[in-house]
Amino acid sequence: MTLMSTNTIGKPVSRVDGPAKVTGQAKYAAEFSVPGLLHGFVVSSTIAKGRIKNIDRSVALAVPGVVEVFAHDNKPRVASSASRYSDETAPPGSPFRPLYDDEILFSGQPIALVVAEEVEIARLAATLVDVEYETEEAVTDLDTQIENAFSPPKKRLAGWDPEPRGDADKALSRASVRLQYEYRTPIEHHNPMENFGCIAVWGDDGRLTVYDKTQGAPNCHKYICNVFGLAKDKVRVLSPYVGGAFGAGLRPNYELFMAVLAAIGLERSVKVTLTRQQMFTLGYRPQTIQTLSLGADDDGSLVAFKHDAITNASQFEDYQEPIVVWSGALYHCDDSAVSSKLARVDLFTPCDMRAPGGAVGVYAIESAMDELSYAIGIDPLELRLKNYSEMDQNEDKPFSSKALKDCYYQGAERFGWSKRKPKPRSMRNGRELVGYGMASGIWEGMRVPASARAILAPDGTLEIATATADIGTGTYTILAQIGAETLGLSLDKVTVKIGDSDLPPAPVEGGSWTAASVGSAVMEACHCIRKEVLERAGKIENGPLNGAEPADVTFIDGEIRMKNDPSRSLSMTEALRGTNEPIKSELTSMPDWKALGRYSHKVHSAVFAEVRLDEELGMLRVMRVVTAVAAGRILNAKTARSQVLGAVVGGIGMALQEETVIDHRYGRFINHNFAEYHVPVNADIHDIDVIFVDEREVNLNPLGVKGVGEIGIVGTAAAIGNAVYHATGVRVRDLPITIDKLLGLRAPYEAPSAC
Ligand code: MOS
Repeated sequence: MTLMSTNTIGKPVSRVDGPAKVTGQAKYAAEFSVPGLLHGFVVSSTIAKGRIKNIDRSVALAVPGVVEVFAHDNKPRVASSASRYSDETAPPGSPFRPLYDDEILFSGQPIALVVAEEVEIARLAATLVDVEYETEEAVTDLDTQIENAFSPPKKRLAGWDPEPRGDADKALSRASVRLQYEYRTPIEHHNPMENFGCIAVWGDDGRLTVYDKTQGAPNCHKYICNVFGLAKDKVRVLSPYVGGAFGAGLRPNYELFMAVLAAIGLERSVKVTLTRQQMFTLGYRPQTIQTLSLGADDDGSLVAFKHDAITNASQFEDYQEPIVVWSGALYHCDDSAVSSKLARVDLFTPCDMRAPGGAVGVYAIESAMDELSYAIGIDPLELRLKNYSEMDQNEDKPFSSKALKDCYYQGAERFGWSKRKPKPRSMRNGRELVGYGMASGIWEGMRVPASARAILAPDGTLEIATATADIGTGTYTILAQIGAETLGLSLDKVTVKIGDSDLPPAPVEGGSWTAASVGSAVMEACHCIRKEVLERAGKIENGPLNGAEPADVTFIDGEIRMKNDPSRSLSMTEALRGTNEPIKSELTSMPDWKALGRYSHKVHSAVFAEVRLDEELGMLRVMRVVTAVAAGRILNAKTARSQVLGAVVGGIGMALQEETVIDHRYGRFINHNFAEYHVPVNADIHDIDVIFVDEREVNLNPLGVKGVGEIGIVGTAAAIGNAVYHATGVRVRDLPITIDKLLGLRAPYEAPSAC
């Protein structure tokens, strides 16, 4: 008999949902087979601004197999007030209402849904819907709107932007070293592998069962009830597996609206999936223009820090992300001022994309810090250490835990940072220039209320249930581990049910908060079960655990053991013998807001990158990335590493490839496909090394976790950009760093000019 300890937390446990995924048994939203299913295909607006004058559907409707063409002028009854279209993660403003009226707000806007017996028929007929527009001139170029940038009157979250400290302008004017540079990041689209898709199953009793690709089944459930005026118990939203999302599935997307609308209108089951091109009509990472002004003493101590950001918003919502908040937590500086502004353009509303605000803001901060290190002539890592902050100066609070120094030291050691020659263009390998760059990473450690249910059956099997999602992150696995370890069961005794609005509510799966929030709920529910099991065991006549309190025992390897006398033990099955009733616990795990309020909670990282540039061919490769992460307790060394690996790949894409290009003449994204929207492929990815440094977190949640979903992308693009500068002497300040930007710009090495 092999005895694997049931203490699996922290171990590199393989995904419990892995076999279902690799054998094709795991079903994604659009894969459920439903009898009598109709297929909807969305007609997208070809103009970016204006009005629909007329929709001629006669030719489309004449195609055999076409059932209906829904548009604003014939849609079934839905809510009209914008507030009913809001959702958990909606920014301030007036949410987009599909098929609301004849107004066109952005190119690619869904303006009609063709429903047919076959998807091919729907797709063909969609091309035959003749739409007559009244076109107005659209403004999509952020550069033309900088003058109109404004500070959003309603903040998305409290604490954005931090108040100024001291007098940054005065301190800057007196600083012995000053830098001011503008950094730019383009619009990027999430592009998960699985396209958005939805099946709305029409039930005989008018009940709707909805399979949707989403990061929050409860969020979509509420949206449908609000928009279509349905009672809560008439709708169930399921999302058991999600093929990636990166934030694109935080808000209800229009495939959901369309499928439900058609199902209600036709009293039939309807499936709507989006094409890859239509994936570019959803939310995206906004464009940023950021100005960094840094002042320092000759020894590298920061004396002034300014960070001003402008991002694009839509005409109807003030989407904001935390771009300028990070320096106040990363570096000590008493004179600081930051601001973030929005400028409206005729595009759809941006949305959260992996480490929203952090990915772009820290890119600019860490690029500027690198520039400062050269201006002063100090090692970039030493500059970070010199300005290391023991306090979150934004909040004037200590950190609950901060092992960033260990990240710097361990990352540098693993990477071989000491082998770096300080001067740009001083390292070579044959005809290739070699560059070493580094950056810090930072993200929020968050915890929010979440509910979970645990049921221990008399046969010793455990079922965990919560409405949260697994977007490839490993939620199924870590929840199973938490349940198994808390009750001393082997993993195969635990099943996890998630992605279902009928289950105990959980917030959207995002913000890197799911392990901390839902994990805590699962652990607390299982602790309640422990108590009950022990009570039942205590009733066994002359039982070995009689009189024991929960604190006296451990649950391990299928047994309950007295801590001070392991010979006094009882197997779980013996403890449950004589009970036919399962033991159930369902609860909502609430953060202790007061205790949390005493500290700042951040996840940190140090990222080191090596790039090589073939001078003749202009080929740029990221040869190595070492990222050292401090994120509290790591629940699963394998899935956590995978999270960071994937995010580093996202960071490489951000640094070198990703950019959604707009043709401003038409206000339209033009590279809306995988041929022209570049993301890294296997050949682009070389060594990625992930280190988790020890960090003891006791304040944020009882599990001691901070979350790892997003930290891996933060800092990565800066580390790569800094390595490119070190290799070439060319500083590119607008992402992505494509070959054309490196050719003959400012090489050979020129010292950055002080302003
Ligand atoms: Mo994440 S951008 O909160 O899915």
